[in-house]
Amino acid sequence: MANLLCIGAGYVGGPTMAVIAQKCPEHRVVVADVDSAKIAAWQSDHLPIYEPGLKEVVLSCRGKNLFFSAEVERQIAEADIIFVSVNTPTKSFGQGAGKAADLQYWEKTARQILQHSRTPKIVVEKSTLPVRTAEAMERILHSNDRNLPFDVVSNPEFLSEGTAIHDMENPDRVLIGARDTPSGRKAMQAVVDIYAHWVPRERIITTSLWSSELSKLVANAFLAQRISSINSISALCEKTEADIQEIAHAIGLDSRIGPHFLNASVGFGGSCFKKDILNLVYLCEHYGLPEVARYWDQVVQMNEYQQARFHARMLSSMFNTVAGKRIALFGAAFKANTSDTRESPALNVCRALVEERAEVVLTDPYALDHARIDLAKDAPQVIFEPDPYRAAAKAHAIAVLTEWNLFAELDYRAIYQSMAKPAFIFDGRNILDHRRLFSMGFNVQAIGKPPLIHPAR
Ligand code: UDX
Ligand code: ADP
Repeated sequence: MANLLCIGAGYVGGPTMAVIAQKCPEHRVVVADVDSAKIAAWQSDHLPIYEPGLKEVVLSCRGKNLFFSAEVERQIAEADIIFVSVNTPTKSFGQGAGKAADLQYWEKTARQILQHSRTPKIVVEKSTLPVRTAEAMERILHSNDRNLPFDVVSNPEFLSEGTAIHDMENPDRVLIGARDTPSGRKAMQAVVDIYAHWVPRERIITTSLWSSELSKLVANAFLAQRISSINSISALCEKTEADIQEIAHAIGLDSRIGPHFLNASVGFGGSCFKKDILNLVYLCEHYGLPEVARYWDQVVQMNEYQQARFHARMLSSMFNTVAGKRIALFGAAFKANTSDTRESPALNVCRALVEERAEVVLTDPYALDHARIDLAKDAPQVIFEPDPYRAAAKAHAIAVLTEWNLFAELDYRAIYQSMAKPAFIFDGRNILDHRRLFSMGFNVQAIGKPPLIHPAR
C-alpha cells in the first residue's frame, strides 16, 4: 500500500487520480488543492468539471481509497508519491510574457513539498513544463538540510478533454521519464507499477527525464500543426471549389498520413495547444534556434488567421454589416463533450461579432456558465440562452462553433421558419447537412467548401 497524493484538483489531477484510485484499490489516493470551493465540489454530487464517465469513477471509490482535501500541507507530510498537476499558464508579465510558461504555482508547490516532507518522496511532474524543469525542481527539493532523498519523475498526461476517462483507461502509451541512477530507476519503477495495474507493459515506455518532458510539448505541437495544416488548405479550398472534407479523406487514407486530426474547423482551442506551442517557441528562442521558433509559431498564427477569416467571412456574406442583427452562436466550449471554454474559438468569434455591434446570443448544452464568466468583462451584452431554438428565433444567422451532436440533430426547418430572411448558416465545424439546409432556403457557408448562396430574386 502506498499513499499517493496529487497536488492540483483540476482537469488533469481530478480525472487522472480518480482512475488511478479505481484501478489500484490497495493504494490510498488523495487529491489536494488550495481552492477549497473546488475541493468541496469534488466531495459533492456536482463535480467541478464535466467529463463523460468521471462521476461514475469518482463515486465508485470516493470515501474508500479516493479522498479530496484542501489541507495540502498535511497531505504532503503523509504521501509517498506526489503527483504535481498545478496550472502552468502562459506568463502574462515580464521576461517571456505571452510565450513562456508561468512557473510560479509549480515552484510554490516544490517549496511546499520541501517544507512539509519528513520522509523520502517521489515527485511526479504531471503538469506540462518546459524541458529541463525537473532539474530546477531537483535543485529546490535538494536544498534541504535534512538530507531527505527526493526523486523527480516526469509522467506527462496525454488525455484529451471529453474522453479523459477513456484515454486514462486505454492509453495509446504511458510515458515515464527519470534519471538513470539507482534511485531514479527505482522511482521510475514505482510509477510504472501504478500504471501496470491496467496498462499492458509494452505501452508503458520509459525514457530520460528530458525526452519525457519534451515529448509532451512535441505531441501537442504535432497535433495542433495538423489542424493548422488542414485549416490552411481550407482557405485555398474556399477559393478553388475544392472540398476540404474530400481532401482530408483522400490524404488520410495514405497510411503514412493517417485519418485523425484532419477536421478543418474554425480553429483549435483548449488550454494546451496554444500554451504548449508558445512554450516550445520560447524554448527554441532561448536555445538560440530562431528558425525553429518561427516554424512552430506559424502554427499558432495560422490558428488565429482561421478564426479571423471565419468572422470576416460572416461579415462579408451578410452585406458587410451585422450591427443590430441578432446572431445565434451554437457552441461556446472549445470542443464537444466538455464544459471547458479556455481558448475557445467560439468566444473569439463572439467577441469579434460584439465588436461589430451584433446582438449575439450564445447557446451551449454545458459551457454557458464558463462562457458567462469569460465574457463578463469584454462582452457583457451577450445573451445566454440554453435552448438553441430560442437562440435562433429572429436571428439573421447561425454560426456553429462547437461540434456538439445535438446541433446536427435540430429541426432546421422549424429554425428556418423562425429566423429573419435571408437566413444564413455558417458551419464552423462541418457537422451539418449543407445541401439539405440549402434546399430549405438557408444560405450556407462551411469551412473549406464552396458557398451555397441563393441568387437574388
Ligand atoms: C489536447 C491533446 O489532444 C491531449 O493529448 C493533451 O493532453 C491536451 O491537449 P484537448 O485540448 O483536450 O487535448 O483537445 P483536442 O481533442 O486535442 O482538441 C483540441 C482542439 O482542436 C479543439 O478545439 C478541437 O475542436 C480542435 N480540433 C481537433 C480540430 O479543429 N480539428 C481536429 O481534427 C481535431
Ligand atoms: P489543468 O487543466 O492543468 O488541470 P487547472 O487549472 O484545471 O489546470 O487545475 C490546476 C489546479 O491546481 C487548480 O485547481 C489550482 O487551484 C491548483 N493549484 C495551483 N497551485 C496550487 C498549490 N500550490 N497547491 C495546491 N493546488 C494548487
